[in-house]
Amino acid sequence: MSAREGGIVVLDFGGQYAQLIARRVRDARVFSVVLPPGESAESIRKWKPKGIILSGGPQSVYEEGAPLPAADPRAFGVPLLGLCYGMQWMAHAGGGEVAPVNGREYGRAVATVATDSELFAGLEPEQTVWMSHGDSVLQPPTGFRVIGSTPSTPVAAIEDADRKLYGLQFHPEVRHTEHGTAILENFLFRACGVHPDWTIESFRRDAVDAIRRKAPTGAVVCALSGGVDSAVTALLLREALGDRVHPILVDHGLLRAHEARQVVEAFARLDIPVRAVDASDLFLSRLEGVTDPEEKRRVIGRTFIDVFEKEARGIADARYLAQGTLYPDVIESVSIHGPSQVIKTHHNVGGLPEKLGLELIEPVRELFKDEVRRLGAELGLPREFLARHPFPGPGLAVRIPGEVTREKVAILQRADEIVLEEIRAAGLYDAIAQAFAVLLPVRSVGVMGDNRTHDFVLAVRAVQTTDFMTADWFRMPHEVLDSIARRVVREGRGVNRVVYDITSKPPATIEWE
Ligand code: XMP
Repeated sequence: MSAREGGIVVLDFGGQYAQLIARRVRDARVFSVVLPPGESAESIRKWKPKGIILSGGPQSVYEEGAPLPAADPRAFGVPLLGLCYGMQWMAHAGGGEVAPVNGREYGRAVATVATDSELFAGLEPEQTVWMSHGDSVLQPPTGFRVIGSTPSTPVAAIEDADRKLYGLQFHPEVRHTEHGTAILENFLFRACGVHPDWTIESFRRDAVDAIRRKAPTGAVVCALSGGVDSAVTALLLREALGDRVHPILVDHGLLRAHEARQVVEAFARLDIPVRAVDASDLFLSRLEGVTDPEEKRRVIGRTFIDVFEKEARGIADARYLAQGTLYPDVIESVSIHGPSQVIKTHHNVGGLPEKLGLELIEPVRELFKDEVRRLGAELGLPREFLARHPFPGPGLAVRIPGEVTREKVAILQRADEIVLEEIRAAGLYDAIAQAFAVLLPVRSVGVMGDNRTHDFVLAVRAVQTTDFMTADWFRMPHEVLDSIARRVVREGRGVNRVVYDITSKPPATIEWE
């Protein structure tokens, strides 16, 4: 059986925690995948799930237009765990009663639970849980018993032990729920009877086999971006297919300072020749006058295809294109995963291969960022590469709100270099998930020596996160901010003011565009 089969399917009803649920399941070493509620029974069956989790969601199950599963999850004969909206759907669909509560309940609550139930076995009878709901189950369906309640939510947990159906009004996937991990593990190991054997090593073996089956002959063009994801993809492909793999780095002129050269050198040390193509003129000329963030991404995406097409034509028998698309890219870009909205068009998702006439290989598509890093370590990627902060495919273009010009790119490259140098010098690089500079389309007045200046404003952004789906701004020590500001204004060109971004994600995204 493939390592990706026999895991847990999470149906995403649009709740902000659907990805987190998948994470927690993987942390318990069980494979999980997030699917939209519209997924057909046939496609769900392909994953051979051992259990299904129904996520939370912002709507009310009894309302018109509320997301409903296309395939009744109760019909697969596997244990079900409904969380919040998922529980309410289960209750509603089973003939129980769901209604709005007085005002939203949000935050910590103390639940009294039945420790003779499957979900709470071995846990304390009183525990802190995290609530976030507007509706409640007033009456569970026939066959269910109440196994948990809080002062304001009498029906906070339900079970139908015979049919292995479980529901929680609170969120076990959130850290604030004291025994959340244990509750999920009870569902996985006791109710579903799965084994904790999904590991990065099993993923690697499985991925290599899958690549070999998918590309039995012909050459693979591998798109490198300078980031970890595409580097790991290239290594995985090399392991599977050897020198049938041709890594190409398209330098769109929007990379960090010296990045193209560093990537080529790092791969050379791994004995992997990389072809670096300097296409900066083409990219920058096509970006002239483009200010809309989505349009920028589209222009860059299209230009990428054009450059790639040309390069791929030069490779004999090229039949496949490999790219390092990650799970969050997929989720945030195409919204195939439930009703979650499209936030940004990540240029590396969708569209490419049809035009190229190449078949797409995305071996790390189901991994989260930290999982990709662990895989990279397994594959022998050097530490300095692994620990690199992520860098977006469209590069500095999304860090220059407004029009992108060669001059602005040069200013930003220099400023960004200083920001990273100072962060490294302070020993903070590894404590930060991602740090970078953004060149704002704003000129401010300053004074240098006796002269008035009218230069750009630079924003510095640094965040802490593990999965990049949510992030908190990094509490940067003032002295580091101070040295960054001093150096950027003194040594960089064209910047006379530096500001620090103190918004988390959500509501902001990590990149400014
Ligand atoms: P946001 O800005 O959406 O970013 O909070 C989340 C993470 O994704 C990176 N990012 C991208 N990566 N192509 C990529 O390969 C893209 O188009 C893209 N846009 C954002 C971003 O740097 C952060 O790590």
